[in-house]
Order: sequence, then C-alpha cells, then structure tokens
Amino acid sequence: MKTSSLKFRKLIAAAKAAQRIAYAPYSKFRVGAALLTKSGKVYTGGNVENASYGLTNCAERVAVQKAVSEGHRQFQAIAVVAPNAALSPCGACRQVLAEFGDCVVICADSRKTSRVRIRLLSELLPHTFKL
Ligand code: THU
Repeated sequence: MKTSSLKFRKLIAAAKAAQRIAYAPYSKFRVGAALLTKSGKVYTGGNVENASYGLTNCAERVAVQKAVSEGHRQFQAIAVVAPNAALSPCGACRQVLAEFGDCVVICADSRKTSRVRIRLLSELLPHTFKL
C-alpha cells in the first residue's frame, strides 16, 4: 500500500473505531466502515443487526446513509474492517455505493490491519445498473 497510504491508514483506524460499536448480537461478526467524502470528511458505520434478520444493515450502508443524509454524494474511498482475511463488501453494499460513482474500496482484517486489499468499486461491481 503506497499511494495515499497515510490517508488510508487513518480511514482504516476510523473503521476500527466504528467496529467497536457495531451492534451484532446475532452473528457476533462486527464490521466497521469509514467513508471518506471528496471534501475530506469521514462518516463511519458499524453493522446494525435485528432480531428479524433481514432488517440488518451492513456497516458500509450505515456509513453511506449517514454521509448522504448529511449532504455528501461524492466519495474518495471506503475502508471496511472485520475479523476475516477475505472480507469484501456484499453485493447490496456495492450497488448502494455505486449509486454515487466509483471510489476506492479498502478492506482490512481487523485482527491484523496491515493485511489490506485495495480495489476500485468498479472492479468489484462492473457494468453497474443505472437508470
Ligand atoms: N456485514 C457487513 O456489515 N458488511 C459486509 O460487507 C458483509 C456483512 C454484516 C452483516 C451482518 O450483520 C454480519 O456482517 C454477518 O453477515
């Protein structure tokens, strides 16, 4: 990780802080996300589960809803952390992020955040549906 590495490190740290307050009593799988706007603001989110499982919100979508409802629609990057070396945003989160254009997606294992994978959203979700 060379390009923008300090910026991305800070974003991963923000995602880790959000992971601590994730609400995941059912899966026990805590996820944290930190979304960096084009203007340099950071919005964080943790997954918020529900006893009616289908109502669960992923960390990424919580961060997007927070940012968009505060007036931000352009994003540079999102960092996502979870205790899993193969973590990658789910399809629903990819589509929700793609609504607002392309951005860098940084995934890190929260148990060892030096394990980082960086992709473009457009690589994770090519040929996006758009109206
Ligand atoms: N989850 C996320 O928050 N983000 C992802 O990218 C994948 C899955 C959450 C949803 C659920 O609360 C838990 O992880 C287990 O699926």
